[in-house]
Amino acid sequence: MTAPIIRTRTELRAMTRSWRQAGETIGVVPTMGALHDGHLSLVGRAEEMSQRVIVTIFVNPKQFNNAQDLANYPRTEHEDARKLERFAVDAIYVPDGSQMYPDGFATNVSVAGLTDVLCGAHRPGHFDGVATVVAKLFLQTSADFAFFGEKDFQQLQVVRRMARDLDIPVQVVGCPTIREIDGLAMSSRNLLLSDQARSRAAALHEVMEQMAEALGRGAVISDLRPEAEARLAASGFGKIDYLEMRTLDGLALIDCATEPARLFAAAYMAGVRLIDNIEVPVPGS
Ligand code: PAF
Repeated sequence: MTAPIIRTRTELRAMTRSWRQAGETIGVVPTMGALHDGHLSLVGRAEEMSQRVIVTIFVNPKQFNNAQDLANYPRTEHEDARKLERFAVDAIYVPDGSQMYPDGFATNVSVAGLTDVLCGAHRPGHFDGVATVVAKLFLQTSADFAFFGEKDFQQLQVVRRMARDLDIPVQVVGCPTIREIDGLAMSSRNLLLSDQARSRAAALHEVMEQMAEALGRGAVISDLRPEAEARLAASGFGKIDYLEMRTLDGLALIDCATEPARLFAAAYMAGVRLIDNIEVPVPGS
């Protein structure tokens, strides 16, 4: 089924109003396009949980702090629409900049604390851009459910906090990371890697798995980090922005897995910034 492409807030509102009047629930999957199986798994979950499904595609300039990164971001609307044909998607919402940020737009949504660490510390303003656009998408779609991948775990927690703090009546659903066969987390950025860089990039997940296993046996992360960093460097990774263990809700930094935690990493492969995170088992559990 080919879903209609909606480009304006007015059309979107007319559509969602009629669904609401019919008492139907709405699920939204916010994306920036370049859809891969990770996104499609979110669409599948949205289909299961909601009667109407909207997929949004908007490459949000406010969340890029590097103009080149924004310019390089893959834009593949036609292929994206084709990939969605096998799902019961009711609308693909593809607003342009003037729909999202009309002249005079002056509001910024900022979630304090959670955004000071990890990607927030390395990409100033990134999460303000995410929280602002996602708040708008929640309001524009009036969704009951919204689906986000755990691959961007910090984003998921930021969006949850934003919706809670602003009393936006949407249930934010986190969905498991989908991986390539060699373990690399699926990401639109993987398209930017050469074949050689792509095959080397799998080392990130491999190293993280081994660290998580050792942490689950009670190891201390500062003891594991030097070897892990050396292995990443030997695999071709350049700068490592972070390789840290943090708690789930508050994202507090911890050295030992004394409570439910995740291991987070961001590192550059051939100039492409890759991120990943995995669960760390609590020792003895
Ligand atoms: O995860 C993304 O693709 C983006 O950050 C999102 C949530 C669509 C907001 O632009």
